[in-house]
Amino acid sequence: MSEKVATITDAAGQAVQYHPGLEGVIAGPSTICSIDGHKGVLTYRGILIEDMAEHSTFEETAFFLLHGHLPTRPELADFENRLKDHRELPQTVIDLIKTFPPTANPMDILRTAVSALGLFDDNPDDDSLAKNTARAEHLIAAFPGIVGVLQRLRQGQPPVPPRMDLSHAEHFLHQVSGKEPDANAAKIFDVCLILHADHSFNASTFTARVCISSLTDMYSAITAATGSLKGPLHGGANTEVMTNFLEIGEVEKVEEWVMARLKNKGKVMGFGHRVYKTYDPRARILSRYSQRLAEITGNLKWFKMSKEMERVMEREVSSRGIYPNVDFFSASVYYYIGVAPDLFTPIFAVSRIAGWTAHVLEQLRDNRLFRPEAAYTGPLQVKYVPMEKR
Ligand code: SDX
Repeated sequence: MSEKVATITDAAGQAVQYHPGLEGVIAGPSTICSIDGHKGVLTYRGILIEDMAEHSTFEETAFFLLHGHLPTRPELADFENRLKDHRELPQTVIDLIKTFPPTANPMDILRTAVSALGLFDDNPDDDSLAKNTARAEHLIAAFPGIVGVLQRLRQGQPPVPPRMDLSHAEHFLHQVSGKEPDANAAKIFDVCLILHADHSFNASTFTARVCISSLTDMYSAITAATGSLKGPLHGGANTEVMTNFLEIGEVEKVEEWVMARLKNKGKVMGFGHRVYKTYDPRARILSRYSQRLAEITGNLKWFKMSKEMERVMEREVSSRGIYPNVDFFSASVYYYIGVAPDLFTPIFAVSRIAGWTAHVLEQLRDNRLFRPEAAYTGPLQVKYVPMEKR
């Protein structure tokens, strides 16, 4: 892990060292996800992400992250049914979303709806593991519906009643479009959900862990995590990747755009990572799906623009450990599937809710309040000045 240590002089004149952004700092143990940033290796509880993407489903992955073992067939069937039992949102939450401005950022709507769900919890004072595990499953079940409702309402369409014959991935695509999901798109989307489900102590997950460490409720922790994921340095990057492609317009203009961005010390969204200093293994898998969708749709443009941007960035910055991350190729994949770019980050949340809740449960099992210290660099022994003398 790279150690970025900064040294400052505190108010007492002492030289103090700290880690900006906690880079390289181990903030605690976890059994949920391992990342080797130099080798580009990612596992969920020891199983390679490549194997999870090839063999698993999002439902099985969510169970695995939450419960710590791969489910037996009956366990998986029961889990899938429990998720289906909670696909239907409380009508009051749907009515609340109807009061939001249709132009509101979908991540703001998602964050607010999660917070509202907490008001309808049937036993808010029950903080047992069993009840918090049930809350985790209910939140995983509810996220596709919240995104579907906001998408339909802002299109002036009625929300789509959830169908119980669909998988989680199919359910999401049906909720946002109202149409019978395409089998190919649903399979690729299910892999995207697997790939985004967890990633150790990333900013939004760590936010959830810090929040729950005060023994607040699950909804408060997930609301905080949703707010963190929205940021363009984190989950918000995938939307910006697609916005950039739409702005650039043509493959031939990619190099000029990238060179201008780098010249102005700007960040090229979808590249770089705090932990990976090599290719993000999820990006490698997603690039293959972007190519497959380009060939299926016959629209090679977005895949070609992605590969051109990757070529230029590899030439210019790969020597500094800056490579495509999970947000880069997911942008073209979602766009090929027909998802609106401002729903890309909510999709990230539809998947990451599994990891967030798994980490909340893990934090609660062996909790200690997160409370680091600051090096005070402000003035000392300052006299209070009465208003009349200011
Ligand atoms: C996700 O943590 C996780 O696990 C996150 C995630 C997950 O699954 O939860 O993997 C998902 O959030 C992926 C990252 C998505 N974000 C982006 O694509 C935004 C663009 N990327 C950068 O903002 C950046 O790479 C970060 C924020 C992702 C990581 O940045 P760091 O570790 O804070 O590194 P840094 O910003 O200090 O950059 C170091 C140098 C800088 O140059 P100097 O000031 O040293 O000259 O590298 C440069 C940066 O300018 N750099 C980039 C760059 N990323 C870093 N230059 C151009 N384009 C980029 N994308």
